Amino acid sequence: MKQEILSALGSHPWAETLQYHDCVGSTNDLAKKLADDGAAHGTVIIAGRQTCGRGRMGRSFQSPGGMGIYLSVILRPNCTADQLMHLTCAAGVAMCNAVEKATKYRPGIKWINDLVANDRKLGGILTELSLEHGGSVRYAVVGIGINCHQKPEDFPIELEKIATSLAIATGKPIPRSALAAAMISELADMSTSLLTKKAAVMEQYRRDCVTLHRDVAVIQAGKTVPATAVGLDDAGALLVRYADGTTGKVTSGEVSVRGLFGYC
Ligand code: BTN
Repeated sequence: MKQEILSALGSHPWAETLQYHDCVGSTNDLAKKLADDGAAHGTVIIAGRQTCGRGRMGRSFQSPGGMGIYLSVILRPNCTADQLMHLTCAAGVAMCNAVEKATKYRPGIKWINDLVANDRKLGGILTELSLEHGGSVRYAVVGIGINCHQKPEDFPIELEKIATSLAIATGKPIPRSALAAAMISELADMSTSLLTKKAAVMEQYRRDCVTLHRDVAVIQAGKTVPATAVGLDDAGALLVRYADGTTGKVTSGEVSVRGLFGYC
C-alpha cells in the first residue's frame, strides 16, 4: 500500500516523511507523539487499520483493515489558536476536493466534521491542537477517516442505518491509493493557503455543508434544543434560529440534522 500511495503521489514534498503502518491504535495518537518528539510539518501517518480510532465527542471511529483510509497529518502553522478556528472546515473542503478528484463523486459535509453521502456518514475529521503558553500553535494534527470498500453488511448493527462507504455511494471500485494521494496533496494545498484564503474556503464550505437551512437539534450541556441552521460564520461557527425567534451561535457540541444519520 505504501508503495502504491508513493507512486500516486509522485515527487510531492510530503512523500519523504510519509509513514505507513499496518496497524496502530489511532493515527492521531501516533501523530501527536511524533509531533511532541519534533516531527516536521507535513508528516503524514497512514494505517491499514486502527484498533482505537477516535472521533469527536469521545466517540470511536470503526477502522477495519483494508476497508478505509485512516490518515493523520502534522501541521505547524505559524499562528495562534484563534486564527485556526476554521481548520476543521478547511480540512472538510480539502477532503471533498480529494474524494471528487479520485472518484468524480463530491460528498457533502455535516457540520462540522462529518463527510456525508446520501444522508449517511462517509467519514469524519478529528482536529487536535497543541498550544504554547500564550495561545500560539505548537502543532495541529488533522485526522481523517473515510469508508471506502464497505458493503452494507460490513457495518456493525449500530451503524447499519447511519454509515455508508464510497463503494456504496458510487457503485464503483474505489482507487484507495489514488484517494490517499489526493488527500495528501489537498491537505498540503490547504495548509499553504490556510491563513490567506480563509473567506474563500469558508464560501466553499457553505456550498458543501448539508446542515445549512435544515431543521436541527442543538445538543449542549445535556439539553436538546430544536432550531433551524441559518448560517455559518468565517470561524466555522453554526448560526441557528430557535423556535422562539432568538438566534444563537454554536461553536462546539453536537448538532443533529433532521433526515441525516437516521435522525428524524
Ligand atoms: C468523527 O467521526 O468524529 C471523526 C472521525 C475521525 C477518524 C480519523 S481516522 C484517522 C484519525 N485517527 C483517529 O483516531 N481518528 C482520525
